[in-house]
Amino acid sequence: MTQQMDTRLRFLEADVSRSPESFADVVAEGLSAAQKWLPCRYFYDEAGSHLFEMICDLPEYYLTRTERAILDTHADAMLKAAGDISALVEFGSGSGCKTRILLDAAGKNRPNNLSYIPVDISGEFLYNSSRALMQDYPGLSITAIAAEYNDAISMLPPRSGPRLFLFMGSNVGNFDPCEAASFLARIRSGMHSEDRLLVGIDLHKHHSHLEPAYDDAAGVTSRFNKNLLKRINRELGANFDLDQFDHHAPFVDHHSRIEMRLVSQREQTVRIAALDRKFTFQPEEYIHTENSHKYSHAAFSRLALEAGLAIENSWTDEREWFAVCLLKPIEARH
Ligand SMILES: C[S@@+](CC[C@H](N)C(=O)[O-])C[C@H]1O[C@@H](n2cnc3c(N)ncnc32)[C@H](O)[C@@H]1O
Repeated sequence: MTQQMDTRLRFLEADVSRSPESFADVVAEGLSAAQKWLPCRYFYDEAGSHLFEMICDLPEYYLTRTERAILDTHADAMLKAAGDISALVEFGSGSGCKTRILLDAAGKNRPNNLSYIPVDISGEFLYNSSRALMQDYPGLSITAIAAEYNDAISMLPPRSGPRLFLFMGSNVGNFDPCEAASFLARIRSGMHSEDRLLVGIDLHKHHSHLEPAYDDAAGVTSRFNKNLLKRINRELGANFDLDQFDHHAPFVDHHSRIEMRLVSQREQTVRIAALDRKFTFQPEEYIHTENSHKYSHAAFSRLALEAGLAIENSWTDEREWFAVCLLKPIEARH
């Protein structure tokens, strides 16, 4: 772990050399599978994080706008329900633009003694967004953790009072339901009875609204998806021809999820120098790059229960397209 100090900003970075799996290992495993796949966390280098910010402003991408509107309307109520918190801990913080709504609401009551602990795999982007927050919120102290979610849990600073954990933007939908339950259970295992967890979930809706959100007319989501291939070319010396892959984002009913795919237009072979290997693609064969699961309130409530959490309160929009749920730990029975 490396550490950088500023007066109010501490920046911690996971030591990737100690990680059991390198990017090269993950790419080798994913492209060798019968159904080729790559984990979506690798979308987020500096360029990928900026592309995601552009996606958030697209007319088709209702998720950010809807969640932001829920926060605009209900941030005071959310903080009141969360109690007298001393820290916000956010997994997958991104630009922190929605966090600012909560910080503004929290600042009305206690401007000078709140700490913010954002966690994000996109280190440079996290550093810049943390510096911007530090400048805009003079009373805030920040410990930013550049790491994968699971690695970050053991790097969190010691608890100094009630904490509100945040997992916004439908990030939980990127996990399969089993993985989601086990990640929420890991957060739960570090929670005290007064701590709370706020989770943003994308609710079921007709696929005619879902699919354009992940396949916009301007082609930004396509660039975001193909950024993964660009990254493999740059970091692992591969020769993917980005024009020979199409971005697809169908809604897959039986999994209740959008699947992002990169579909090969023809038979082609790609060489990855760092692996000293070649991978062949058949026409129409695809790499599965991301899942975005959609939940009903009931299904999410069951998932939370599996993780030892109960929904204490939830807020939604008029169309009921998105929900922000406040979860509390279920006390163990003695
Ligand atoms: C879909 S964006 C959401 C950003 C923000 N929470 C929002 O609501 O707009 C996902 C964010 O989580 C980060 N991220 C994705 N997978 C991650 C992982 N496995 N560990 C840590 N951060 C991750 C990305 O870098 C990105 O900033």
